[in-house]
Amino acid sequence: MIDHLRKIYGGKRVFLTGHTGFKGSWMLLLLQELGAEVKGLALPPEKEDDLYLKIGGDDLCHSVISDIRFAQRLRTELRQFHPDFVIHMAAQALVLTSYENPVETFRTNVQGTAHLLEALRSAKPPLVAINVTTDKVYENHESLKPYKEDEPLGGYDPYSASKAGSEIVTQSYRRSFFNPKVYDKHQVSLATARSGNVIGGGDYSDNRIIPDLVRAFNDREKLEVRNPEAVRPWQHVLDPLTGYLLLGARMHENPKDFSEAFNFGPDESKPVTVKDLVDIAIDVWGDGTYSTPGNPQPHEAGLLLLDNSKAKTRLGWKPNWDARESIRKTIEWYKNAPGNEREYSQFQIRDYFGVLS
Ligand SMILES: NC(=O)c1ccc[n+]([C@@H]2O[C@H](COP(=O)([O-])OP(=O)(O)OC[C@H]3O[C@@H](n4cnc5c(N)ncnc54)[C@H](O)[C@@H]3O)[C@@H](O)[C@H]2O)c1
Repeated sequence: MIDHLRKIYGGKRVFLTGHTGFKGSWMLLLLQELGAEVKGLALPPEKEDDLYLKIGGDDLCHSVISDIRFAQRLRTELRQFHPDFVIHMAAQALVLTSYENPVETFRTNVQGTAHLLEALRSAKPPLVAINVTTDKVYENHESLKPYKEDEPLGGYDPYSASKAGSEIVTQSYRRSFFNPKVYDKHQVSLATARSGNVIGGGDYSDNRIIPDLVRAFNDREKLEVRNPEAVRPWQHVLDPLTGYLLLGARMHENPKDFSEAFNFGPDESKPVTVKDLVDIAIDVWGDGTYSTPGNPQPHEAGLLLLDNSKAKTRLGWKPNWDARESIRKTIEWYKNAPGNEREYSQFQIRDYFGVLS
C-alpha cells in the first residue's frame, strides 16, 4: 500500500486545510513520508501541547495561518500553490463548542466549505479534492444498524448539522460545477470522506478517556472511570487518514469514477468497553490504578456505526489496526513519544504500513 501511495503522492502538491489540528498533524507526517509537498491553511495551534508544535509542523509544510471564513485569502493561497490534491479538514470540530457558538460553527463548517469549493473553481485543473466530514452527518435512526453512504443526512446538534451542511454544499458544487459526467470540461473530481471519532498519540484534549488516563498515570493518581461498560468504535487515526489518501489516489487514477461519499469506519468486532481500554492501557503502561465510582451505565445509547463496505469494495481499503491494537499503539505513543514526538510518530507510521527496517 505505501509504495502505491508514494507513487501517487511523491513530488505532488497537496493543499491541506486544518493542518494545525490533531488529524492535520498526523496527515502532515503521512504526506511527508509519501514525499508530497504541502501547503497548509488553518488557525494557529491553540495550546502549547498541541501535536502540531510537538512534531515541529512548521518544518513539514508551508504553513499559512488564516481563517477559512476569509474567502479572498483562501482563494489566493490555493491558486498560487497550483495543488494536485486538496484535502479539506479545517473545521470547528467540537460538539460542545457548537452549542456555545452555533453561528460561528455554521460559518466555519458550512460557509468555510463553500469558500473552499469556490476557490477550486478558479484553481488550475486537474484537481482532486476531498472534503473530510464525520459519521455524525447521518440522520440518527437510533438503531445499531451501520449507516450506508446513501442514507439521509441530518444532524441534531449544531456541529453535526454543520457537517451535514458541508456535505450538501459539496454535493451541490459537484452537481453544478464539477459534475463527473462532464469531467473533461472542468477536470475537478470531488469526494467526501466520513469517519467517526478517532484515537491516536498526541491528543491532549480535556474530558477524553485516553488523555485523562495518561494524565492520571503520569501523576500517579487513581483514575476515575465513569462509564466502564460503555462501548465505543475505537479507531486509530491512521486508519481513516490512509483511507482518505487511498480515495485521493483512486480519484487521481480514475477521476470520473470516485466523485462520491465514502465511509471509513472500523470493522465490526468484539465490543471493547471503556474498562477493557483501561485494562489494556495499564498493561502497556506497566502501572496505573482506577476506580469505577457512581452508577455505571449498563450500555451506551446512540452508538453510531459506519458501514465501511463501499470503501472496501470500491477502493480496496480496510482498517489495519483493530480496536485493541489501536488502543495499544496509542498508549505506546504516550509512553514512548514524549521528547521525540516527530520521530516516534514516524516510527508508528512505518509500523502501520509494515515497513519497519
Ligand atoms: N478527531 C476526530 O475524532 C474526528 C472525527 C470525525 C471527523 N473529524 C473531522 O476531521 C477534521 C479534523 O478534525 P480534528 O480532530 O483534527 O480537529 P482539530 O480541532 O484538532 O483541528 C481543527 C483544525 O481546523 C482549523 N480551523 C478551525 N476553525 C478554522 C477556521 N475558521 N479557519 C481556518 N482553520 C480553522 C484549526 O486551526 C485546526 O487546524 C474536522 O473536519 C473534523 O470535523 C474529526
